[in-house]
Amino acid sequence: MVAAASVSKVAAKGNWLVLMIIAHARFFVCCTQVIGLAALCAFTACDREAGPPATPGAAAPPPADQLRIGEKAYEAHCAQCHYAGEGGANVPPLANSPVLLGPPAATFKVILQGQANQSVVNGQKFNGIMPAMDYLTDEEIASVTAYLRHRFAAKEETITPAQVAEARRNLPVSP
Ligand code: HEC
Repeated sequence: MVAAASVSKVAAKGNWLVLMIIAHARFFVCCTQVIGLAALCAFTACDREAGPPATPGAAAPPPADQLRIGEKAYEAHCAQCHYAGEGGANVPPLANSPVLLGPPAATFKVILQGQANQSVVNGQKFNGIMPAMDYLTDEEIASVTAYLRHRFAAKEETITPAQVAEARRNLPVSP
């Protein structure tokens, strides 16, 4: 009797376990269906709701040539102070730089005229002096600007030397 009772207890426990497994499996199937639906939504219908796709040609990364020239100019003329972009004691980091996040002309201005004690990046004020580097060519300034905006500000734009030439013409005449 005792043995039979414990056997049936075990059997009952076994049934319970089977039920639990089934319940969990159903729950799992249900979850995967929900996740699947969400994924489907993300890739199809919801995407369409977010608006039309970007116009072709807009926001294309700068051409490889421009990025290469820009990186070379950065290494030659900027990295001695800005390092790999992290900056230093009085040199601001380039990620989240309001200048790079602004229009290309804002970066031209800093390169052509220099800047002192004005940078505020990530809420931190910097008191350094960046010298004017107007001796760089229009192509170097265009390329380094496109390269840095691509690398640190997720701004995808080809920048022409003509844009820099125009910025030079509009600079205030130095005393
Ligand atoms: C001699 C050191 C030095 C060199 C070389 C230098 N910088 Fe700077 N840069 C600085 C300092 C210091 C500041 C911050 C100036 C300030 O506080 O107003 C700065 C600021 C900037 C900023 C503005 C950041 C912001 O949002 O306020 C940009 C963009 C920048 N530099 C890009 C460049 C580029 C591009 C080059 C190379 C063509 C370059 N720098 C070369 C020292 C330097």
